Parts: sequence; structure tokens; C-alpha cells
Amino acid sequence: MRIVRTIAELTRDRPLQGTGPRTGLVPTMGAFHAGHLALFAAAREENDIVVASLFVNPAQFGPAEDLYRYPRDEERDVELAEEAGVDILFAPSAEEMYPNGYATWIDVGELGHRLEGEFRPNHFRGVATVCLKLFNIVRPARAYFGQKDAQQAAVVKQLVRDLNLELEIRVVPTVRDEDGLALSSRNAYLSSEEHEAALALPRGLWAGRDAFVTGSDPAKEAQRFLNSLDVDYVEVADLDGQKVLAAAVRVGKTRLIDNVVLEGETK
Ligand code: PAJ
Repeated sequence: MRIVRTIAELTRDRPLQGTGPRTGLVPTMGAFHAGHLALFAAAREENDIVVASLFVNPAQFGPAEDLYRYPRDEERDVELAEEAGVDILFAPSAEEMYPNGYATWIDVGELGHRLEGEFRPNHFRGVATVCLKLFNIVRPARAYFGQKDAQQAAVVKQLVRDLNLELEIRVVPTVRDEDGLALSSRNAYLSSEEHEAALALPRGLWAGRDAFVTGSDPAKEAQRFLNSLDVDYVEVADLDGQKVLAAAVRVGKTRLIDNVVLEGETK
């Protein structure tokens, strides 16, 4: 596996897409877990070249958020990516991605301002911008995102559709630990008591999904499980044609998000 730190090096011998080898891109912020590995595996299966990006994108963190304490362990990430069959790990610095004078931002409109967007005002502007930059730098035929961040996947699909980008977006199902908690780099912040308390999140969402099947209110049912947590939102949402029950909660200082699909394919 090659580790590439500059855009110039990445673009120098990039194959043209449309003819010849196909590139699959997996954008990440590192601190790899089995969720990331599922994305690498999906990319490895259907592309000739797999590029993973590792960039803790400052533009998607709010001023009071966890940018500076976000878990970082590049040595371990390099090993895991290599084992997963990643060909190129693109790990640029913040100055490489946002040099002095950087000024252009992508706003995907209403979709980026509800749910997560309401609690993290510039978050999806940062996500959409860095994804567009990564798509332009890597020029993948396909890019891989997790259902865990369902709104993010919908934002990226909106970006691709609206700006006529020539790549396919693949969404990979959420990977959970044996207790049901969706894997997240931020789970590393949880104490064992907090981890136990956090299990109310998947349990509430599953109860909500059961309620949906029997015709009752999914959000109301889920909320009953979430009473002991600090809930930002628990809502049925239409995300690019997929109906999900999505929630964000705070467990101690850690903010967790999760969702279950009520209607529509994970694709
Ligand atoms: P990060 O949180 O590192 O996640 C990278 C990718 O892994 C995202 O597409 C995310 O949805 C997926 N992922 C995370 N946990 C998962 C799980 N438990 N199961 C399946 N997939 C999972 O999301 C980001 O980084 C950033 O916002 C990024 C897209 C890289 C832009 O900076």
C-alpha cells in the first residue's frame, strides 16, 4: 500500500475513469473499525484500485466540537488498511486541502440543514466540500459511504446529482458490535457505564421499527427507550427517497447518531 500525502502525487499517475482500471474511493477520518473495513471490502470487491482517504476534516467540525480530541492512530490505520487490500492511503494535511486563501464552499440546501444540520450548522457544508474535493482529486468510478450516517450519504447523493458528477455512490449497511451499538470512532470516548447506557439508542430504534410495522408512531416508541439520555432528535425522515428513523443522543460528553431503515433499499 502506498501512503500519499500530496494532491500532486495523487493526481500524477491517476488512471482516467471510463476506460481502463476502475477506482473505488472510501473517504474516512481514520480511527478505523469494522464499519470502515466493510467499506474497504465492498470497494475491493468491485474495483481495480482502492483508494482510502484519511483526513480529519476541520471544516465539518463546529467550534465547540471534538476536532482536537478526535481519535487519531495513523500507524494502526495503515496496518488495517493494508490488510483490507487498500492500494493507496491518501492522508493529506489540513494545509494541503485548505491552503491559505481557500474560499469555496458547497451547500446542498435544505437537506443539509435539518436533523444533524440543525444541531451542527456547518457540518454538511464541510462534508460536501471535502467530498467534492476528494472526488475531483481521486476521480473514482465509485465512492463508498455507510448507512450509519444516512443523512451524509443522502447529502453526497444530492451533490453528485446536482453537480452532474460522474461517479456512483454505494451505501454499505451499518456494522454494529455484538450488543447492537453502531460502530463509531467516537465510541472510544465511552466509559463502560456509558457504553451500557448508549445501548438504549439501537434498542429504541429497533422498537421504533417494530412500531412502524404495526402502524404505530416509531419516534414516540423509540423515545420511550431514550428517556434516560439527552436526546437531540428522534425523527422519521425521508432521506433521498429512503424512509429512516434517525436519532442523535448525548451520552455524557459523547454525541452518538444512529438510524434504522423503515422503507426503501440500502444501496
Ligand atoms: P468517518 O466517520 O471516518 O466514516 C467514514 C465512513 O465510514 C462513512 O461513510 C461512514 O458512514 C462509514 N461508517 C462509519 N461507521 C460505520 C458503521 N458502523 N457501519 C458502516 N459504515 C460506517 O463520515 C466520515 O468519516 C466523514 O464525514 C467523511 C465522509 C470522511 C468526510 O470527511
